[in-house]
Amino acid sequence: MNFELKTLSLATAAKSASEHLIVLISDHFQAKKDPLSALVQIAVKAKDFSSKTGKLLHFYAAPGIAASKVMFLGVGAASASDIKSAMAVITSGLKATETKKLTIISPEPLSAQSVQALLVGLAEGTYVYGTTKSKPSSRMLSQVCLGLPSLKPEVQNAFDASVGMIHGIEFAKEWANRPANHATPSMLAKAAASLAKSGGFSCEVLGPKEVSKLGMGSFMSVAQGSAEPLRFIVLNYQGGAKSEAPTVLVGKGITFDTGGISMKPAAEMDEMKFDMGGAASVLGVFKSLSLIKPKINVVGLIPACENMPDGLAVKPGDVVTSMSGQTIEILNTDAEGRLILCDALTYAERFKPRAVIDIATLTGACVIALGAIRSGMFATEDELAHNLLQAGEQAMDLCWRMPLDDDYADALKSNFADVANVGGRAGGVIIAAKFLQRFTKKYPWAHLDIAGTAWRSGASKGATGRPVGLLLHYLLSQQPTQASSTAKKSSRSAVK
Ligand code: BES
Ligand code: MN
Ligand code: ZN
Repeated sequence: MNFELKTLSLATAAKSASEHLIVLISDHFQAKKDPLSALVQIAVKAKDFSSKTGKLLHFYAAPGIAASKVMFLGVGAASASDIKSAMAVITSGLKATETKKLTIISPEPLSAQSVQALLVGLAEGTYVYGTTKSKPSSRMLSQVCLGLPSLKPEVQNAFDASVGMIHGIEFAKEWANRPANHATPSMLAKAAASLAKSGGFSCEVLGPKEVSKLGMGSFMSVAQGSAEPLRFIVLNYQGGAKSEAPTVLVGKGITFDTGGISMKPAAEMDEMKFDMGGAASVLGVFKSLSLIKPKINVVGLIPACENMPDGLAVKPGDVVTSMSGQTIEILNTDAEGRLILCDALTYAERFKPRAVIDIATLTGACVIALGAIRSGMFATEDELAHNLLQAGEQAMDLCWRMPLDDDYADALKSNFADVANVGGRAGGVIIAAKFLQRFTKKYPWAHLDIAGTAWRSGASKGATGRPVGLLLHYLLSQQPTQASSTAKKSSRSAVK
């Protein structure tokens, strides 16, 4: 999808030929002397339309209006959440029509956050997955022009960042949605390498030999039951000075989680193809970085493998040695996410990071605690926690801080190793975080449990692309000169 931002008045919009014109009407709407304003006034007077969020009025071939198809859409106070709700009302209809080119005009100014909500909402509602269908139906909508009364720099910046963000979200969705036989660890690594090549950043892929040399015994123990060889993907985006410490993102890349020998029940096991949602979000963020080009350094680490039962699979009670030297008693082979992440977290030390954030579909307990609305967030520093919470709000990709009291770690005591990989069921989301924390002593660390937010189940089953938005907002807020560095000369952002 291509996006364009320009200054546009209702009078000009009425005169410009367009396939489909959508006019956003807020509570602050002020009618002027143009054909569109006149129609709004007639419709409001006839009580066929109001500025209430989600109110809709469709019509065709109106006199004095060049567009063949016009829609008035009420957006209430035009806050980001109003715009989000209004977009949700129209996108299913848009998806069903043949509209390729769409012009959306807001006669009143929109805030940076509302512009983001509009673009992201439009992309979200018209997204189509097609890769593994024999006759893939692709998204019809290919060109979106947003017209505003004036273009303030912060709105232009928000527009450019949102377009970059959407491409990242859609990249994450694509890979998370792919079935496990179309997204093996090797395929994921190839996708990362080609993304790096086109995006102008570096990518290194390690295989079983290199990973064994590094001493990642915990990661290897999860992969040993699968015929698919593991991959360890290292991405490096350098937009800032060489001397500047990077932020490291670590994404859980279990391309399929059967539970291993501690096998999961059959119902909904297919959804465990989404267990690389953390990895997909890291790839998505790198896609966005390559488009937005902020002046920051970011490293991405993705341990990728399958968790399978097999004659060679790791067994409950087995003790393995992690890269950190700590031994782990694997009491439940279904708690595999933490086993691959812990070695990646130790590997992260070599970058002397300013912060490390891991992203993982880690626990069913997180789904019970927070549902599908907020991701679980843990942080060893208040400032990091605050910044992540704020980034979530700005991106409308929310998270919620959870505690890291040391008492929760008591559940992980083992008689046969330094630590066990599971505790009891109570507080499972926190116990998992406490396990990871043992491997993060050398840097400020945050953990996002996205088990409830990375995908939707049921009729609308599919990846959400979360938390690409949250991570991107966090990273962009870390830029040295935030106000000016995402500004670009051109108002056109066309990608693919
Ligand atoms: N990938 C799952 C977590 C998960 C489960 C995410 C359901 C979304 C929905 C993870 O590897 C897992 O199996 N965790 C176990 C941990 C337990 C054995 C301590 C869980 O949550 O049941
Ligand atoms: Mn599991
Ligand atoms: Zn898992």
